[in-house]
Amino acid sequence: MMEQPKETKQWRLYIFFILMGICAIGQAQRSFVTAFMDNLSTPTTFQLYLVTYDKEATVTVTVKQPSFTKTVYIDRDSTTLVTLNESYMITEKQVTSKAILVESDVDISVYAFTTAGDTSDATACLPLEDLGTEYYISTPATGEKKQFSIANGLEKTVLVNVTASGSITYNGVVYTSGQSFSISLGYQQAIQFQSSEDLTTTRISSTDPVAVISGQRCYSLMSACDTLVEQLYPVEKWGTFFVVFPLLDHTEDSITIIAANPETTISIESLRESNQYNLQEASFTRLPLSEAVIINSSQPIMVTYLFQDSKPNIVTDYDPFLATVPPSSPSRKFYKFITQRRYYNFLMIVSRDSSPQFFLDQHPLNFYNVSMKELNGFYAWEVSMGNADGQHEIYHQSLPFTIYVYGIEKFVSYGYSMGQETIYPDPPYIPKPGALHCLSHGAEYQLPIHLLSEANLNVWDVHLEDPECQAELNENVALIKIPFSGCGSSVLNEDDKTYYINTIYGTIPKTSIHRIEIPVICEMETKETLDFTFQPKVTDVVSFGHYNVSLKLYQAANFTDLVSEYPHQVDIHGSLHVEFEVESDDANLQILVESCKASPSLGELEQIYYLIQDGCYQDSTLQNHQVPDQRLQRFTFHAFKFDNLPEVYVSCNVIVCHNATSPNRCTQGCLLSRHRRDARSWRQHLASARLSQGPIMVTSDEPQSPGTVPISALVVVIGIMGLLSVLGLVLQKRHYRKHEYTLLQNTSN
Ligand SMILES: *[C@@H]1O[C@H](CO)[C@@H](O)[C@H](O)[C@H]1NC(C)=O
Ligand SMILES: *[C@@H]1O[C@H](CO)[C@@H](O)[C@H](O)[C@H]1NC(C)=O
Ligand SMILES: *[C@@H]1O[C@H](CO)[C@@H](O)[C@H](O)[C@H]1NC(C)=O
Ligand SMILES: *[C@@H]1O[C@H](CO)[C@@H](O)[C@H](O)[C@H]1NC(C)=O
Ligand SMILES: *[C@@H]1O[C@H](CO)[C@@H](O)[C@H](O)[C@H]1NC(C)=O
Ligand SMILES: *[C@@H]1O[C@H](CO)[C@@H](O)[C@H](O)[C@H]1NC(C)=O
Ligand SMILES: *[C@@H]1O[C@H](CO)[C@@H](O)[C@H](O)[C@H]1NC(C)=O
Ligand SMILES: *[C@@H]1O[C@H](CO)[C@@H](O)[C@H](O)[C@H]1NC(C)=O
Repeated sequence: MMEQPKETKQWRLYIFFILMGICAIGQAQRSFVTAFMDNLSTPTTFQLYLVTYDKEATVTVTVKQPSFTKTVYIDRDSTTLVTLNESYMITEKQVTSKAILVESDVDISVYAFTTAGDTSDATACLPLEDLGTEYYISTPATGEKKQFSIANGLEKTVLVNVTASGSITYNGVVYTSGQSFSISLGYQQAIQFQSSEDLTTTRISSTDPVAVISGQRCYSLMSACDTLVEQLYPVEKWGTFFVVFPLLDHTEDSITIIAANPETTISIESLRESNQYNLQEASFTRLPLSEAVIINSSQPIMVTYLFQDSKPNIVTDYDPFLATVPPSSPSRKFYKFITQRRYYNFLMIVSRDSSPQFFLDQHPLNFYNVSMKELNGFYAWEVSMGNADGQHEIYHQSLPFTIYVYGIEKFVSYGYSMGQETIYPDPPYIPKPGALHCLSHGAEYQLPIHLLSEANLNVWDVHLEDPECQAELNENVALIKIPFSGCGSSVLNEDDKTYYINTIYGTIPKTSIHRIEIPVICEMETKETLDFTFQPKVTDVVSFGHYNVSLKLYQAANFTDLVSEYPHQVDIHGSLHVEFEVESDDANLQILVESCKASPSLGELEQIYYLIQDGCYQDSTLQNHQVPDQRLQRFTFHAFKFDNLPEVYVSCNVIVCHNATSPNRCTQGCLLSRHRRDARSWRQHLASARLSQGPIMVTSDEPQSPGTVPISALVVVIGIMGLLSVLGLVLQKRHYRKHEYTLLQNTSN
C-alpha cells in the first residue's frame, strides 16, 4: 500500500507539463469528461446542462461507441440541455468507449443529472484541468452495487491502477482489500466497477489525469433502489478545513472522511462536543451528522456528505443523494447552477458573511425564503427556491463562498456541491473592478465605448436615475460622475455600513427604453458593481386560416439552433434572433412582418415601443437577414427593457401574400404612413395574424408555468375561426399570466 515517493514525484512533474500544454492550446477552451454510470434497468436519461457565461459558445458532446455527436451553439448567459439515453449508460464490466466528452470553445459549466423515473442524482462536472492522477472512492456502507467509474478524456492511453478496498471483480478475478490490478484506458474510454461491498478508500492511481465518478446503483434506505452519483476530486485538490452544516435541518445524514496520508490527525468540533481522530493512509471514518461541525485536519482529507435522513418537509419521503463537501477555503464569489422543476429546490450557501450580501438571480437574498445557521463565524444560508427551473446565479460582492444545490420530491431527489473547483468561468459582464471608483464625495464609473456602439447609443444617452446627470466622453470610455447626494442616488444604512445606490442607464432618446442598465453600489470601504438583468422570453406559435405561421427564437444569428428551453434568458447587452415563417408547402407564399411593438405588459397603451411599424424598421439595431425563401423573415435586434419593469412583450402583425397578387403589401415592404390606407386592401394579402412573444416569470405560485414546451407542440391547425380563439385562449392561460388579448386579427375588418 505504501507509495514510493520517487514515483509520485515523477508523476506529478508529468502532470505539470500536461497542464501547461492545455493552457497553451487555448485559454478559452474548456473540456469535460464524464460517464453515465448506473446500470439501472428502468428508462434512464443522462441530462447534461451546458451553461454559458459572458460569451456565446459552440459546444460538442461526443461519445465514441455507440457513436454520439451533438454540436450546439449557445448564446451568452444561457443554458442548453443535451440528453443522452440509456444506450450510453455503462452496462459492461470491461473497458467501454462510452466516456462522454464535452468540448467548448469558451468557458462553460456543465452539470449532469442522472434521472430515472423513480430515482435521480446530479453532479457538477469538473473541467479537465481539475482532474488528477490519484483518487479515493467513497461509497455508502450498505445496499446493493456500490459503484464507481473512471473516464479518460485527455490522453491517448492512460494506465490506471486500482487498489481494492472491499471486493472488486475484474476480468473474472476477484480482488479483495489491498489487492491491486491495472487497466489501460484509451482516449474517450471508461470503465465501471460495481460491488456489493463498501468500496470506500479503494485507491485509483493513473499515469495521466482521469475523471472518477463515485456512487451507488441501489442505495436502499428510503425506497427500494436509489441512485447516488458524484464526481470526486483528486487527492491533490483535497483540503484540511471544512465546515459542514446539515441540509434541511437533518439530524441523521452522515459524512465520510478519507485520509490519503499516514498520521492524519482530524479534529471535529460542534457546539456540543469536540473529538479527535487519527487516520492512517487510505483509511476513513464515517460519522452521523446531527449538527453543524468544523473539521480541521493536519493533512489533506476528502469529506463526502450522504443525504439520507427523511424529515417531514415539503415532502416526507424523498431520496438520498451523495455530494462532496468543498473545503471552506473557497475562491469563487459567483456561481451559476441548475435546478429542475420536478423538485422543491434548495440552495445552501456556506460563507463567513453574517449579513446576507448575496444576490440570487439578481435579487438580494432576503427577497427569498431563507434561514440561517451559524457556527464559529461560519454561516449557512439555506434558500427555498420552490419549483424553479433552469439556470440560476448567486453572487457576493466581496466574499468567496461554497454552495450546495439540492431538490426533493416524493421518493426522488438530487444534490451536488460547488466551491472546490480551481477552474471556473468569469461572471457575465460585471464591470471590471476599477470601472467604478467610490471616492469620499461620490463615485465615478467608466463605461467601455464598445457597449455603447453595440447598443447603437451615444455618450449623451447614458445617464443616472436622474436623466439630467449624463455621461461625458473621456478617451475611449463614457465617464459618469455619481454624486452621493443628488442625481437619484439613494442611501442605505445597514449594520454600520453605508451603501450609495444608483443606476446607470443607456436609453434610446425620447423613450424609456434602456439598452444598458448597470446598478452601481458604493460601500464606503469596498467597491463593487452589479449587473444582472435578464429577459425571460417564450415563443408562441399561432395558426390561422389554413396556414401555420410560426415565430421562433434562435440561439445565434445564423438561425441554426432553435431555442428549445424556456424561459429563454437574454442578457440585456445581448441580442434576440427571431424567425417568422408561413409553414406551407406553397412556395408562392410570402411573409411580411408588418409591425412589431414592444410593451411592458399586454394591452399596454402608454408605453409602446415599435421595432417595426408599417413594414418600416424603427429600431436602429434591427437587422433583417435576407433569406431566399420568401416564406421566411429573420431578424436580429439588441435586447432592451422598460424603465423599472422586468418584462417585455413583443407583439407582431404578420401578413401573408400570394405572389400571384404581386405587387402586393408584401412586395411593398416599408410604407410611409401617408400611403398606408391605400395599401391596406385586404384582397392583396391573404390573411394576417398577430403573433406574440412574451416573458414568463417562473414563480413558485405558478407550478404549471411552462419550462420546456417544444415549439411543435404549440402549432395548432384549425380551419374554423371560432375554434381557434378558444384554443388560443387555452394556450394563453397556460403560458401567460395576463390574459385579455386577441391572438388573431382578421384584416378584413
Ligand atoms: C438513443 O439515442 C441515439 C442517438 O441519440 C439513437 O440513435 C438511439 O436509437 C436511442 N436509443 C434508444 C434506446 O432510445
Ligand atoms: C448491468 O446490467 C446488465 C443487465 O442487467 C448485466 O448483464 C451487467 O452485468 C451489468 N453490468 C455491471 C457492470 O454490473
Ligand atoms: C498499484 O499501486 C499499488 C500501490 O501503489 C502498488 O503496490 C501496486 O504494485 C500497483 N499495481 C499495479 C498492477 O501496478
Ligand atoms: C486547525 O488546528 C490547528 C492545530 O490544532 C490550529 O493551529 C489551526 O488554527 C486550526 N485551524 C483552523 C482553521 O481552525
Ligand atoms: C419557507 O421555508 C420553510 C422551510 O424551508 C417553510 O416551512 C415555509 O413554509 C416557507 N415559507 C414560505 C412563505 O414559503
Ligand atoms: C452558427 O453560429 C455560431 C455562433 O456564432 C457559430 O459558432 C457556428 O459556426 C454557426 N453555425 C453554422 C452552421 O454556421
Ligand atoms: C400545421 O402544423 C401542424 C402541426 O405541426 C401540422 O400537422 C400541419 O400539417 C401543418 N399545416 C400546414 C398547412 O402546414
Ligand atoms: C412566385 O414565386 C414562385 C416561387 O418562388 C416563382 O416560381 C413564380 O415565378 C413567382 N410568381 C410570380 C408571379 O412572381
